[in-house]
Amino acid sequence: MPTDSELFAPCDLGPADYADILDLWRRAGLPVRAEGRDAPEAFARQLAGGAQRVIGVRNEETLAAVAVLTHDGRKGWINRMAVDPMYRRRGLAQRLIAEAERWFREDLGLEVYAALIEQHNSASLALFARAGYRPFDIVYMSKRLRSGA
Ligand SMILES: CC(C)(COP(=O)(O)OP(=O)(O)OC[C@H]1O[C@@H](n2cnc3c(N)ncnc32)[C@H](O)[C@@H]1OP(=O)(O)O)[C@@H](O)C(=O)NCCC(=O)NCCS
Repeated sequence: MPTDSELFAPCDLGPADYADILDLWRRAGLPVRAEGRDAPEAFARQLAGGAQRVIGVRNEETLAAVAVLTHDGRKGWINRMAVDPMYRRRGLAQRLIAEAERWFREDLGLEVYAALIEQHNSASLALFARAGYRPFDIVYMSKRLRSGA
């Protein structure tokens, strides 16, 4: 009988996983901009650019967890993490964070890792706090050239 640790090893995801990733984000309640930056061609372009990796955990046909990793040359960012409601509290998000940090540190030589978390998202705040992340009193501002971008 395989252990959770063997079953839930993180793997790289690519364009072939696109539909499963969007489906998981929707199941997990994350916003999906399928006409904008989450469109299939945008997804493929972001991956091809080399500054982004998408990792996840598959259990047979089900995509159980996903996270988008990016870096800006100074910091590694963990974005859009989602775990299927049926697979929560089994350490999957923790394993994705561990793999993200391994990539940032060993392959990219980065020493600062970050995530943007909404203030009301207590599960995600607890997850990152437990992984050693500390909050900063910063206001996130963004400019969008069109709605849905
Ligand atoms: C946040 C989320 C990714 C956590 O995934 P998960 O696989 O269940 O998390 P883990 O099992 O790795 O949890 C590790 C630790 O984080 C903390 N944690 C996780 N979920 C928690 C919750 N709902 N409440 C309190 N603490 C929580 C706990 O310390 C937990 O350790 P424990 O289970 O031993 O107590 C998941 O709840 C999710 O997909 N939420 C919806 C999407 C989302 O908000 N994404 C984050 C965007 S920034």
